[in-house]
Amino acid sequence: MPGELAMPAAPPQRYHVRARVVAHEPLGGKYRRMVLEAPQVAAHARPGQFIHVDCSQGWVPFWRRPFSLSGRSGDCISFIYAVVGPGTRNLAKRRLAEEVDFLGPLGNGFHLHPTASPLIFVGGGYGVTPFFWLLEQAAGRAVHLIHGARSASELLRAAPNGAQVMYTTDDGSYGERGLVTDALRRRLSSPSARQAAVYACGPRPMLRAVALLAREFGVPCQVAMEELMACGVGGCFGCAVKVRGAYRLVCRDGPVFAADEVDWDEPA
Ligand SMILES: Cc1cc2nc3c(=O)[nH]c(=O)nc-3n(C[C@H](O)[C@H](O)[C@H](O)COP(=O)(O)OP(=O)(O)OC[C@H]3O[C@@H](n4cnc5c(N)ncnc54)[C@H](O)[C@@H]3O)c2cc1C
Ligand code: FES
Repeated sequence: MPGELAMPAAPPQRYHVRARVVAHEPLGGKYRRMVLEAPQVAAHARPGQFIHVDCSQGWVPFWRRPFSLSGRSGDCISFIYAVVGPGTRNLAKRRLAEEVDFLGPLGNGFHLHPTASPLIFVGGGYGVTPFFWLLEQAAGRAVHLIHGARSASELLRAAPNGAQVMYTTDDGSYGERGLVTDALRRRLSSPSARQAAVYACGPRPMLRAVALLAREFGVPCQVAMEELMACGVGGCFGCAVKVRGAYRLVCRDGPVFAADEVDWDEPA
C-alpha cells in the first residue's frame, strides 16, 4: 500500500535524560542548533523522532516543548529550533556545559522506501529540520528537498549537504514565489519522478495538500505531523488525530504516518 509504514516489533526505547550542551549555535534568522551529549538516546534514535524538552525557567512554560531530531554524531544528538515564544526564548539562553532535561527519543520515525527514486522531502517552516538527518540516511540516492515558508525570515537557509534544494516563499521574498505544493506538483509531473516517494513535515494544511498530490500521482508518501502537544508520551490525548477511522496519538503513534491513512477532513 502506498506510504504504508512497518511498525517496529520491539517496544521503543525512551529515556529521561539530563544532557550536557556541547554546541549551541545560531543558524541564521530565528534558527539555532543545539547539540546534546546523550549516548543512550543517540544509540536508539532515528530520523522523524522527536525529543520533549524542559524549556522552563521557574514554571514557565509549564509543559515541555517537542523538537524533531536533526542529527546524530557519536554520542550526541542535535536539534534545530526557531525562537518563537517563551520556551524557545529560554532555550536560546542555555550555555555550553549546562544541562538540558528531556524525554526521548519519542514517537516513530520515517522509513525510507528501499527503491524509490527520487526521494522528495518537503519541509514547511521549521518542518524542514528532520530532513537534515534523513538526508544523511539517504546518502548516495537522488534526493530533492523543497523548503518553503511564508517569507524569507521563516526559511532555514543553512542548506543541508547532499540535496538539490528548492526554496519557496508565499510572498516571493526568497526563492520561488508560491507554495511548496506548486514546486512539488512540477517535480511529480516530470517523467523522471514516476518512481518517486514523498516525505513531508510542516503545518497540517500543507501536509494535507502534499498527501493529496502524492495520491494524485500515485506515489508513496509519509508525513510527520506537528500537532500541539502537552505530555508528549500518550497520557493527555491532546494530540489525537484520526487515522484509518480511529483516533491515534501523534506523540506516541506518530509523528510519522502514512499520508493516505490520515483522515485529512477530520478537524484537528
Ligand atoms: C513533533 C513536533 C516536532 C517539532 N519539531 C520542531 C523543530 O524541530 N524545530 C522547531 O523549531 N519547532 C519544532 N516544533 C514546534 C515547537 O515545538 C514549538 O515551536 C515550540 O513548542 C514553541 O514553544 P514556545 O514556548 O517557544 O512558544 P509558544 O508560545 O508555545 O508558541 C509560539 C507560537 O507557535 C505556535 N506553535 C507552537 N507549537 C506549535 C506546533 N506544534 N504547531 C504549530 N504551531 C505551534 C503557537 O500556537 C504560538 O503561536 C515541533 C512540534 C512538534 C509537535
Ligand atoms: S501530547 Fe499528550 S497524548 Fe500526545
